[in-house]
Amino acid sequence: MGMVRKPKLTEIVAMKQLLDQAAAAGQVLSRDLAEMFENARDFHVYVDNNGVAGLVALHIDLIDLAEVRSLVVRENLRGSGIGRLLVAAALEEAHQLEMARVYTFTRIPAFFRRIGFTDVDRAELPYKAFKDCLKCPLFPGCDETALLKEVRIAS
Ligand SMILES: CC(C)(COP(=O)(O)OP(=O)(O)OC[C@H]1O[C@@H](n2cnc3c(N)ncnc32)[C@H](O)[C@@H]1OP(=O)(O)O)[C@@H](O)C(=O)NCCC(=O)NCCS
Repeated sequence: MGMVRKPKLTEIVAMKQLLDQAAAAGQVLSRDLAEMFENARDFHVYVDNNGVAGLVALHIDLIDLAEVRSLVVRENLRGSGIGRLLVAAALEEAHQLEMARVYTFTRIPAFFRRIGFTDVDRAELPYKAFKDCLKCPLFPGCDETALLKEVRIAS
C-alpha cells in the first residue's frame, strides 16, 4: 500500500512520465519539465514501493480560486481509490489555504461528480481559468466540462 504526500524534486521526472502517458491518450494537458519544477509545490503524489504511481496539482489562480489539474493514476492501479485520495489531498490543501472554490476542466465529469464537484457554466469562471487554452491541442474546439467545488473555510 502506498501513500499520498508532497513530491520531492527528484520525483518530478517520473511524474512527468506519468503525465505524458495520459497526455498522449488525450486525457490531460502535458506540462513541460521547467513548468513542473516551477510549480513543484502545487503537487501531491501517490507513491508505492515502485515509485510515483499518481499525481495531482492544485494551482492557485486568484485570491479565492484554484484549479485541480494534472490528475493521473498509473493505469494498472486505477479503480482502487487512489484518484479520490489524491483529489482529497489537493482539497485539504485548498482548505488549509482558506481557498473558497476549486474548479477543474475534464473529459471525465462523472469522476468529479462522484467525488463532490458540481457542473458549472464555464462563463461563470474568471478569465484566468482559461490560461492554458491557447496551448491546448483541443483549442478552440474544447469538449471538456467545467466543474466546481466549494471548499469549507477553516475555523
Ligand atoms: C481519473 C483517474 C485519476 C481516476 O483515478 P482512480 O484511482 O481510478 O479513481 P478512484 O478509484 O479513486 O475512483 C473514485 C470514484 O470515481 C469513479 N471513477 C473512476 N474513474 C472514473 C471515470 N473515468 N469515470 C467515471 N467515474 C469514475 C470510481 O468508480 C469511484 O467511484 P466509487 O466511489 O463509487 O467507487 C484515473 O482513471 C486516471 O488516471 N485517468 C487518466 C487520466 C485522467 O483522465 N485524468 C483526469 C483528467 S481531468
